[in-house]
This record gives sequence, structure tokens and C-alpha cells, in this order.
Amino acid sequence: MNHFEQIDGVLHAEQVPLPVIADAVSTPVYVYSRATLERHAQVFRDALSGLDNPHLAFAVKANPNLAVLKVLAKQGYGADVVSGGEMDRALAAGMEAEDIVFSGVGKTTDEIIRALKAGIGQFNIESEEEGGELAALANTMGHRANAVLRINPDVDAGTHGKISTGKADNKFGVGIHRAPEIYARLNALPGINMRGVALHIGSQLTSLDPLETAFLKIGGLVAELRSAGHSITHVDLGGGLGVRYKEGDNPPEPADYGAMVARVTKGWNVRLMFEPGRVIAGNAGVLLTRVIRVKPGSGNLPFAIVDAAMNDLARPALYDAWHDFEAVEPNGRRLTANIVGPVCETGDTFAMARDIDEIAAGDLAIFRTAGAYGATMASTYNSRGLVPEVLVDGDKFAIVAERIAPATILAAEHVPDWLE
Ligand code: LLP
Repeated sequence: MNHFEQIDGVLHAEQVPLPVIADAVSTPVYVYSRATLERHAQVFRDALSGLDNPHLAFAVKANPNLAVLKVLAKQGYGADVVSGGEMDRALAAGMEAEDIVFSGVGKTTDEIIRALKAGIGQFNIESEEEGGELAALANTMGHRANAVLRINPDVDAGTHGKISTGKADNKFGVGIHRAPEIYARLNALPGINMRGVALHIGSQLTSLDPLETAFLKIGGLVAELRSAGHSITHVDLGGGLGVRYKEGDNPPEPADYGAMVARVTKGWNVRLMFEPGRVIAGNAGVLLTRVIRVKPGSGNLPFAIVDAAMNDLARPALYDAWHDFEAVEPNGRRLTANIVGPVCETGDTFAMARDIDEIAAGDLAIFRTAGAYGATMASTYNSRGLVPEVLVDGDKFAIVAERIAPATILAAEHVPDWLE
């Protein structure tokens, strides 16, 4: 459920009419609902109520906006970060360093040092090489870093190939068969406190089966590591729960996920950690856009050209993703159209032959389920500005990320003297 509903024929974000935001901030603009974020944070927490003290780390990559992170920090969430930049955001949002997990396949030396200095709670190590460097750096600094080893369980997550991470040929983690020997070598190093394992097999998972298969493999590995004498106290189960993008999608309910986790991990006797992203933020945001014009296409389908483009919302171009499109003030009539942005690429297409509300030049519309992997993946391609973000709370709203105008980006570029 979310808080983007019609009131008297006009789409609102909570109690704020979307035309008010469009007038104040212009379009395109991402609009987030605090109430939806809080609700999803609570639903996910409730789903895990059968577990003993689970650690919840929001996957910052899904929506790194500072105000969004603040909302989740107030809900008791920590963070899963994959760069120094994400770490800085989580800390700036008031999350405790202790509650931050540092994942990522390519942590740089500088990032590791910064994370050690900040006192990050856990490093999710993705290779023996990385673990060796972390141990050496921590040892030199007089630290002992908490770490878990990310395992690649070689399970097909059944999701889009570009967001699948747990197959043997994906770059993430260490192969499950090599894990025991690598774990033993890392465990012997000073500077590092190996305390468990982690996995994340992919995103937008629409079935619990691959997760269960992967968790069972991890359970077997935990037993194997223990019988080799290791003390395993933490297992990070990652994120990945899918959300509903369109009518007929049937993603797993968080409660069913929680029940499966409780069943599969019974007797593991570890602190379980979770890294949800999309399931918290996806339906908590929309991309508000204005129709520039509608032009006839060949055949009888018109092109509805909106002022949002693939640089603002990359998912359709990258993953053929579906985002529901709705007029902000629908007139009750329907239209079949192709929805495209202004960018000079055929890939800048949000939908082909889509049955939509009838729209005309100047009308406002939204793309739904844009709160995760939306603004954060924006670029300035075609020298467009960086899309702004607004957070709504009841009947008030605030700009929580300003539009970065093309002129500002231009001002950061320089022509060297020798070219003058
Ligand atoms: N933990 C790790 C280690 C991850 O790599 C990810 C996502 C998550 C947690 C959060 O997964 P979630 O709960 O959000 O599924 N840009 C793509 C999604 C990429 C996901 C990358 N990793 C998209 O727009 O669909």
C-alpha cells in the first residue's frame, strides 16, 4: 500500500495535491511519501518479528536521499553501504556507525581506511584479497574489524540478468565451495574478527524459492564452518524482495518471507542481518512529469512525449522495466500510446502501446514505484539537469534534493589555457 491516491479527482501525495508540487518545484521531480516509507519499514520489521533481534540495514543504493535515510534512521534502521559516499550519507542521516554494513565488490584502500576510522559495524568481504587488505590496514591502525565473508551460493534468482548477483559467474562474493578454506585463512589474520557469512542473490525477486535454496546452502556452510572450529555469530541474508510494479505482479509478501526465514534459519543461533532496499522505498515514490506534447506516430499510435527521460528514470531503458503511468487529473477517457522522453535515443522509451489515461500537452502524470533505483540512478545525459526530490509528510512538503541545473554542471567544466 502507498499514499499516492486520488482525492476529488486529483492525485495527491498524502494530503498534498501533486499539481501544487509541480507548480512549486517544476517537473520532472521525484516525490516521496514519508508515511509510505515508515509503513514499509514497519511491515518489514513486523515480518521478522519471529526472529531474535534481527539487524535491519537499509540498502542505501536504493534511495540515498539524506531525508529518506533520516526517516529510516528514525525507524531504527541502519544501512548497507557500498561506497564511501553512501557511508557519509548514512552517517550524516544520524545512523550509528555500528549499525552500518559495508558491502561492495571493489572497496578501495581509501574507502576501507575511512570506514575503519568511522568505526563501521561490519565489513562484508567479497574476496580473500580484500579481506587480506582489510586485515592489514586494520592491524596497522590498531583496530580489529568485524567482518563476514560474502558467499556466492550459485543460485539462479530468476530475475533480470542485470540484477542477478548469486550465480557462479557473477562477480560477487566467493564461491561456496572455496569458502571454508578462504574463511580459515582470513580467520587466522590479525586485524580482523571473522564472525560469519553474507549473501545477496539478486534484486526484484518474485519467488521465495531461490532465496530458500540459497539460505539452505548457507545453513550447511555455517554448520561446516562451525565443525571446523569457527565461531559463527552473524549471518547477513541481504535484500532482494520484489515489489508490485504492475497489475498482476505477485511478489512475495514480507510476512511470508519472514516466516520462511524463521523456518529455514531455526537453530542457526546467530544474529540475522537484512539489507532491504526496494521493498522499503519502491512504492514510496513517484516520478512526476509533464506532457510536453503528443505527436502522431506511424500507424495509429501516438507518441506521448513527457519531460522526464531515461536520464531521470533509467530502469525502463536498462531493464525493460514497467512503471505504471497515470494522469494526475484523469478525464476518464483512455488512450493507447507510446510514452517517451525527450532524450535522443530510441531507448528513451517508458512504454510502447500502453493503455493509459488520455493526456494532452501540459498535463501532469506520474510514473509509479519510482522510489527505489530512481533518482539515485539519474544522470545528466543530453545535458539535462539532475532531477530534484521532494518529501511529503501529511499536508506539508519540502525539497529534499534541489534540481542541479545544466548551468551548474557547465560551471564545473573548464577549458585549459592551452586550448584558448
Ligand atoms: N544488498 C546488496 C549486497 C545488494 O547488492 C543489493 C542490491 C541490496 C542489498 C538491495 O536489494 P533490494 O532489496 O533493493 O532488491 N538498479 C537495479 C537494482 C540493483 C540492485 C543492486 N543490489 C534496479 O533498478 O532494478
